[in-house]
Amino acid sequence: MFPVHRPRRLRTSPQLRGMVRETVLTKNDLIYPLFAVPGEGFAKEVKSMPGVYQLSIDKIVEEAKQVYDLGIPSIILFGIPADKDTDATGAWHDCGIVQTAATAVKQAVPGLVVIADTCLCEYTSHGHCGYLQVGDLTGRVLNDPTLELLKKTAVSQAKAGADIIAPSGMMDGFVTAIRSALDEAGYQDIPIMSYAAKYASAYYGPFRDAAESAPQFGDRRTYQMDPANSREALKEIALDIAEGADMLMVKPALAYMDIIWQVKQACNLPVAAYNVSGEYSMVKAAALNGWIDEKRVVMETLIGFKRAGADLILTYHAKDAARWLEQGN
Ligand code: PBG
Ligand code: ZN
Repeated sequence: MFPVHRPRRLRTSPQLRGMVRETVLTKNDLIYPLFAVPGEGFAKEVKSMPGVYQLSIDKIVEEAKQVYDLGIPSIILFGIPADKDTDATGAWHDCGIVQTAATAVKQAVPGLVVIADTCLCEYTSHGHCGYLQVGDLTGRVLNDPTLELLKKTAVSQAKAGADIIAPSGMMDGFVTAIRSALDEAGYQDIPIMSYAAKYASAYYGPFRDAAESAPQFGDRRTYQMDPANSREALKEIALDIAEGADMLMVKPALAYMDIIWQVKQACNLPVAAYNVSGEYSMVKAAALNGWIDEKRVVMETLIGFKRAGADLILTYHAKDAARWLEQGN
């Protein structure tokens, strides 16, 4: 009898395919990024990210309610401050934009898990993720002095009501620094989601429009990782685990599926994948041109992240995906 094995037998109906499906995507897996700006009644679409807006805090609150009602458990907040300086004051000030947004969202939607992105690039005048030596035009961020700013930032975000601190600056020792600062301030129970393996990627381009955080000179290659490296990702995650990270992130996601897989195999912490801005914009551009089926492409991509080992997915598609999950297929 030829052939003995006919794998197609298990593909004959939607029901059967459902029964043997190995991976599932649920709304619980989704985290939706939001960009807070000063002002009131302000909503401005990001040119390179159709469907993504810079929002004033009143609008962020409206959006947070909508996200919660869609069944998405969590948002991550980024901020665009009114003023930028070399000390990144807007990042750690108690009246900073992310702090104000976090407090407002928690007050209006207490059940929504608010993650604060903890970095300085949106707040520094030069757009790098920390302190620079005076006169430096290359962007070699000073590691240890920058940790002091990150500590202050994390504590003020926790004080403002953030439920999770997510440091993204790729400074050495940032998990230890933030953990000890949070503990000292009485926030032992606030988890850290570390951007553990974050690559120096061209896929962040549209985000830098959204967050107005492009470096004014130089690039981030002296702190973010070389896209060619995977062993180094394992080293980074081992360090962050040792330093007390509660969750780990791999970023970007699409071109780094192998890293998601390896990180998942190498640890017993929840792993998050960041489906970054450029990945979103490519899909949106093709969809708006009618070149691809947006829903199918997005859902296939998201299930791919789960299959690769992601427990959580940060994605600008989260609201659409939640609606599509609701509809079923
Ligand atoms: C800041 C930060 C970046 C992203 C998240 N946090 C950009 C960068 O490093 O320039 C990128 C997110 C995205 O592209 O969607 N440290
Ligand atoms: Zn940064």
